[in-house]
Amino acid sequence: MSDINSTNPRTLGRGICIITGASSGFGQALAYQVSCYLEPRSVLLLVARSGPLLQEMKEELQSATEEQQLVVHCVTVDLRTKEGVDETVRLARQEAVDEIEHVLLINNAASLGDIAKFETFTNPDEVNSYLSLNVSSPLALTAGILQLCPCRLGLRWSVVNLSSKFALQALPSWVLYCTAKAARNMMFSVLAKEQQHVKVLSYSPGPMDTDMQKEILRLTNVNHNPMPCHESAAKLMKLLLDNNFSSGAHLDFFDV
Ligand SMILES: NC(=O)c1ccc[n+]([C@@H]2O[C@H](COP(=O)([O-])OP(=O)(O)OC[C@H]3O[C@@H](n4cnc5c(N)ncnc54)[C@H](OP(=O)(O)O)[C@@H]3O)[C@@H](O)[C@H]2O)c1
Repeated sequence: MSDINSTNPRTLGRGICIITGASSGFGQALAYQVSCYLEPRSVLLLVARSGPLLQEMKEELQSATEEQQLVVHCVTVDLRTKEGVDETVRLARQEAVDEIEHVLLINNAASLGDIAKFETFTNPDEVNSYLSLNVSSPLALTAGILQLCPCRLGLRWSVVNLSSKFALQALPSWVLYCTAKAARNMMFSVLAKEQQHVKVLSYSPGPMDTDMQKEILRLTNVNHNPMPCHESAAKLMKLLLDNNFSSGAHLDFFDV
């Protein structure tokens, strides 16, 4: 097995990279950056519900990286469902060939959920529906990919959890979002402890100019001065390329 802390600053190797929530916002920005650092014949799985947006990205990515002959798949699924998670794992299985050197799973898809006082949430179905995308799907998807790419000599394994400062800090009226991000942080800390061959990072990307941030502004009237997504994506890329963070770490854009 390759040393999970080994550093090779300019490449992610010949990889299979799965990015959830790749159709817009941070996931989209990250997909463009990741594609530049994957070696020829790597595989990129773009996962989201908006098929036409994914298809457009696929065409742009393939023409921008022609020499690398990237295999790009659009996985048009709803990750709130078992079928959505299963379909993503099924497509990854097709592509997870023996020559793959790096499995890179970016659990990015998330939603804001209802911003409302605690006592609003009397309906467990509403809460479960929120948690299905934001907590259950990254757990089930990561478990599925772990099963199909077991630890072997020469295989680097990285999992990124898109987190938030609200994984660590309680904010009134944000019970759904804070709960999900805190649960994800613990989920991936457990993974880091359990699977020594997997390098796990929870990355809090800072406020970014995305649909989610526009929704926050509309609902709260608070302007968080968001930055362009590519700035935060570049910092995450540097962390992945340098590969010298501790597995299980929770790192914030403003601290690295
Ligand atoms: N934006 C910020 O300021 C900020 C700050 C801190 C942390 N974050 C975190 O960073 C990550 C990215 O945020 P973002 O602002 O880029 O979010 P965003 O603009 O809302 O994009 C969310 C992505 O997730 C996908 N998605 C949503 N529901 C889905 C579902 N049921 N199944 C499959 N895909 C689904 C969306 O695509 P489809 O609609 O096509 O499915 C989209 O590609 C999230 O984890 C967020 O919590 C963001």
